[in-house]
Amino acid sequence: DKGNHRHFMQKEIYEQPVVVAQTLSSYLRTLEAKVALPDMEFDLGSVERVAIVACGTASYVGAIGKYWLEQMARVPVEVDVASEFRYREPVLGPNTLGLVISQSGETADTLAALRHMKSEGVTTAGIINVPTSSMAREVDLLLPTHAGPEIGVASTKAFTCQLAVMAALAANIARAKGKLSDADEAVLVKHLAEVPAAMNAALAHDAEIEGMAHTIAGARDVLYLGRGPDYPLALEGALKLKEISYIHAEGYAAGEMKHGPIALIDESVPVIVIAPSGPLFDKTVSNMQEVQARGGKVVLISDSEGLAQAGEGALATIEMPKVHPLIAPLVYAVPVQLLAYHVAVVKGTDVDQPRNLAKSVTVE
Ligand code: F6R
Repeated sequence: DKGNHRHFMQKEIYEQPVVVAQTLSSYLRTLEAKVALPDMEFDLGSVERVAIVACGTASYVGAIGKYWLEQMARVPVEVDVASEFRYREPVLGPNTLGLVISQSGETADTLAALRHMKSEGVTTAGIINVPTSSMAREVDLLLPTHAGPEIGVASTKAFTCQLAVMAALAANIARAKGKLSDADEAVLVKHLAEVPAAMNAALAHDAEIEGMAHTIAGARDVLYLGRGPDYPLALEGALKLKEISYIHAEGYAAGEMKHGPIALIDESVPVIVIAPSGPLFDKTVSNMQEVQARGGKVVLISDSEGLAQAGEGALATIEMPKVHPLIAPLVYAVPVQLLAYHVAVVKGTDVDQPRNLAKSVTVE
């Protein structure tokens, strides 16, 4: 049931503050300022490497998780798309934690990768939304997301719930390895607990984003730029736009622009810049200015501080609440999803059932 919403995708975007709060509530003990995972039979402190395998949107959760795990827990992380994983003969040493991420828990390539890891003796965990799925049954440690059924083919609420669990997992591994002090854990719990309210603040910009959808809908190509954990979010933004609006879109690490893609820039190419204020902001802004100097039309998504510093000269700006860099990908996901959604509505595509796509991909 879509309720008051025109599409399931819109409904699912709007459900995010509630389902992310639901998911977080089973991974945070806010009163004690602690993160917590379900009971498990192995010691997270012994994890020396993490191998993350997933497809599509779920693989971008893995890519964001790599930044978090490496920063917080100081363990090396590899991220593979599942269709490539088995065939590159990955080196899976002892003390590797194999992590699969999947909404459906049935994606054929991810399931095959999970079975491959198990056959190599690797301990596995899964961030999975459908609790009765094959992957949920087969992983050693199930880390459920509580997004509820996701009907729209384009993943939205599953993505942000997966990120919430990923942050909790990274913090738990960090703590088990002695890399996270009680004080830092308390700060992290506080920031994570702020996510639902920050998502509500982001949703309040819906009408504005709808207003800019007409301009974007006329484009042939759109680029998304981000740095650090917001780089995989740029990839996710581009995927979302291409799958439901059929506009060609690419995500790039902002600093990579000058190594090739900047050749594409002219007045007809909108560039969506995801840049919360923080340590990486100035660098991203200088990449954005390189785009503007070539006539590129920028949509800057940042907070009040960032927009005051760099919003001048942008085609449009979207103001996010000021949040800690750690949680920015969860909050900035909202405008990125809304933009794709409204562009698709302007274009009149079948938003919930885009052509050529299936909700669950059970062939390799
Ligand atoms: C994109 C999308 C797909 C899925 C991918 C993995 O919006 O929905 O890229 O993320 O097919 O699906 P799951 O998470 O079910 O393994």
